[in-house]
This record gives sequence, structure tokens and C-alpha cells, in this order.
Amino acid sequence: MILPIYLYGNPILRKQSVDITKDYPDIEKLISNMFETMYRADGVGLAAPQIGKNINLFIVDASRLADDRPELKDFKRVFINPKITFLTDETIGIEEGCLSIPNIHEFVQRPKELSISYLNEKFEPVTEVYSDYRAIVIQHEYDHLNGILFVDKISPLRRRLLQSKLNNITRGKVDVDYKVKI
Ligand code: NI
Repeated sequence: MILPIYLYGNPILRKQSVDITKDYPDIEKLISNMFETMYRADGVGLAAPQIGKNINLFIVDASRLADDRPELKDFKRVFINPKITFLTDETIGIEEGCLSIPNIHEFVQRPKELSISYLNEKFEPVTEVYSDYRAIVIQHEYDHLNGILFVDKISPLRRRLLQSKLNNITRGKVDVDYKVKI
């Protein structure tokens, strides 16, 4: 089932999410709905707050970008209760976008490498190290769980230039071809 994606300005996107347990109702269904919703919107990541749930869960699948970036070939994951335990001082800048902030793309500087511990879709504990594009996708989605959006991380000048576009998104004045909720 395709779920509406909550847009910039919705207070759910600014709330702190909470950990879940195995008995969270219909978790498998929720995860499969999130994948369906993300694919429909051509995203590479989707965090639970973006579909209106303040729980510590995000998904990624960047495998469709593997022609340009071979390291993304198997980069499909479910992250439950993730904790980033290490970030490098070295940073990289990649142009980011967000399904909750349609038609805006900005370069964001973030740590180049990280360690993350989380539960996978079977609730098995996993610890992994990621760098470059994959580390950026993970940090972007992880931020959603803490109520942080990529536009919070750009310069005050760039942000001021975007303000009217952001205001329009808040009012639902936005051109998208997927289901949204203001
Ligand atoms: Ni996002």
C-alpha cells in the first residue's frame, strides 16, 4: 500500500522518534508499505516520520543507482533502532534531496565515514561501517529520526534564498507526482 509522504512544515517531521520492539503492530507490513511508497516516489531512502510515524525506523535502497556507483548494488537495508556510534572528522559534500522537500536540492557537508549499530528486519543486531554516498544516505535518514532535515544544514544565506519555496511546500503548493500530506 502506498502511503502519503508528509511534507516539510508538518510537525511530525520535527519530533524525536522512539525505539520499537519486535511486537510493534504489523511491523512487516509497515516496512513493505514503506518500500512500496519509496519506490513509487523514486527515493533512495525513507524514514518512518516521513509517513507519519515517530519511530526509529528507516529504509534505504540505492541499488537503482548502481550503474553510476557500483558500491550501491546491494545497498538495500532496513534500519531499526539505529545508533551511529562513530563519525569521521573528514567530511564530503553531496547534493541532497528529500521526498518531504520536493524539488529542492542542495549540497550538504557531512562526515565521510561512520559506524552504525542497528536491528535488521528480523530484529537481529548488526554493526557496519559505511563511507561516501552510503554514509551520506544513512546520515540523512538518521537525521529524520531526530527531527532534523537537510535544509537545516545549509548556510543561512542559501536557506534564506529557499525560504519562499519552503513556505510554498508548507502550504502544499508543490508539484509532485506522488501522494503527499501537508
Ligand atoms: Ni529525507
